Amino acid sequence: MNSESIDYLSGKGYISCGNTDPMKKKQVYVETYGCQMNAADSEVVLSIMNDNGFGITQSPVDADVIFVNTCSVRDNAEQRVRQRISTLKNYKRNNPGVLIGVLGCMAERLRTELIDKSNVVDMVVGPDEYRKLPELVEDAFNGQRGIAVKLSRIENYDDIMPLRMEGVTAWISVMRGCDKFCTFCVVPFTRGRERSRSLRSIVQEVERLSARGFKEITLLGQNVNSYHDGEFDFADLIRRVSEVDRTIRIRFMTPHPQDMSENLIRAIAENDNACNSIHLPIQSGSNRILQLMNRTYTVEEYFSLVKKIRDAIPGATLSTDIIAGFPTETEDDHRQTLDVIRTVGFDGAFTFKYSPREHTKAWEMNDDVPEGVKADRLNEIIELQQNISLKKNQTLVGSTVEILVERESTKSNDEWMGRTDTNKVTVFPKDNSHIGDLVAITIDRCNSATLFGAIAKEPNTMNDYRIAVNS
Ligand code: SAH
Ligand code: SF4
Ligand code: F3S
Repeated sequence: MNSESIDYLSGKGYISCGNTDPMKKKQVYVETYGCQMNAADSEVVLSIMNDNGFGITQSPVDADVIFVNTCSVRDNAEQRVRQRISTLKNYKRNNPGVLIGVLGCMAERLRTELIDKSNVVDMVVGPDEYRKLPELVEDAFNGQRGIAVKLSRIENYDDIMPLRMEGVTAWISVMRGCDKFCTFCVVPFTRGRERSRSLRSIVQEVERLSARGFKEITLLGQNVNSYHDGEFDFADLIRRVSEVDRTIRIRFMTPHPQDMSENLIRAIAENDNACNSIHLPIQSGSNRILQLMNRTYTVEEYFSLVKKIRDAIPGATLSTDIIAGFPTETEDDHRQTLDVIRTVGFDGAFTFKYSPREHTKAWEMNDDVPEGVKADRLNEIIELQQNISLKKNQTLVGSTVEILVERESTKSNDEWMGRTDTNKVTVFPKDNSHIGDLVAITIDRCNSATLFGAIAKEPNTMNDYRIAVNS
């Protein structure tokens, strides 16, 4: 980060907008909050703007147009964005020529409120209206503020090649929206109905990414395994995408237990490069709460799914999402959640305090678990999960694992960060290896979140890894 942007971000001083030359392309900067689908959408937005004559900048101080791509999933996600918008207000006071657009799920949820309540925001644009951005930007430069928040039953940006930075890992949105209507969740309201891209266009995108040297692709959807393009389902997609380039690892996010078919599990098992890590949100360990959440499965059904996955894909790691303090959750319900975490033995979990969202069914229920109780339950869940994650990681110490080198470690520029195909983050000295390499790393220590090691003396000890994982 340069000193100018530090000043800007800390709000101490402001740089005037860098682009005063009328012949120079207007520059667009996108800042993304929320899930990977939002990150993938930001690449679609950049592509649309780029195709319409705008330049792309990585720094807000060089931008003529600042887009904030927002998330509504929990109240704290929205608060972060609100704070950001108020920082931008000060920035705009000193740079009145800069346009500010709010995109994404908050734009969809709050609509006119975002424009009415501020004199900062020039555009409010929901997730299905990004094709209108160039026109809206044009209007806004002419002083006309704009709003476009219609949800579509068909928009999937199938024909738009997202503008990706060079790198090793890429994501591809394969379906949009969600029809599940879990009672706590705002996503069906901000993203609309489910729709899938054609298998053919996804395979083409994978072919292009392979030609550019990408080594890992994550297929994305809010409900990714309910993918269906009218002809092919998600199991078909995994099979087809995996065979494009066997050196590319294929991941996917986020599947729903209800759509985790045996055929899909087989498709993952049959394809070595389809990664052996599955993120399978359970949300609660109490059947009563699961029913109130409209999750459509019981704990017993979830267990049987876990067994099917582990039988078919030995060594597969499992991670999950859990919500603490859903309305009416009792101490006993909470205990059941802790029991399920112990029984399954997840490798990792994303854990959240329940946050009421307007329009959802649960919004009508009394948010009756006190904040302090939610926090205590969440802490208990986190502590238990960290212990389990640590034990799981410890079983790998002494073994050799295959790592895809992704980027420099955040702590040292002598070290790389990469992941196993089971999604374990691993840090090790560079030792002549390069980003994009697959390297054999012997693990010498770990904590609950990270494995540490060094390049193996005997690369063919990779089998140790399979043995360690399978045992
Ligand atoms: N489509 C995915 C993820 C949706 S959002 C799925 O079905 O799993 C990611 C996670 O946020 C959810 O799995 C859930 O654990 C959490 N979440 C969603 N709404 C929430 C709310 N209102 N309060 C707290 N956590 C929530
Ligand atoms: Fe939300 Fe449920 Fe859809 Fe996931 S499956 S996005 S939690 S409604
Ligand atoms: Fe957030 Fe929207 Fe994603 S609410 S989690 S950005 S789909």
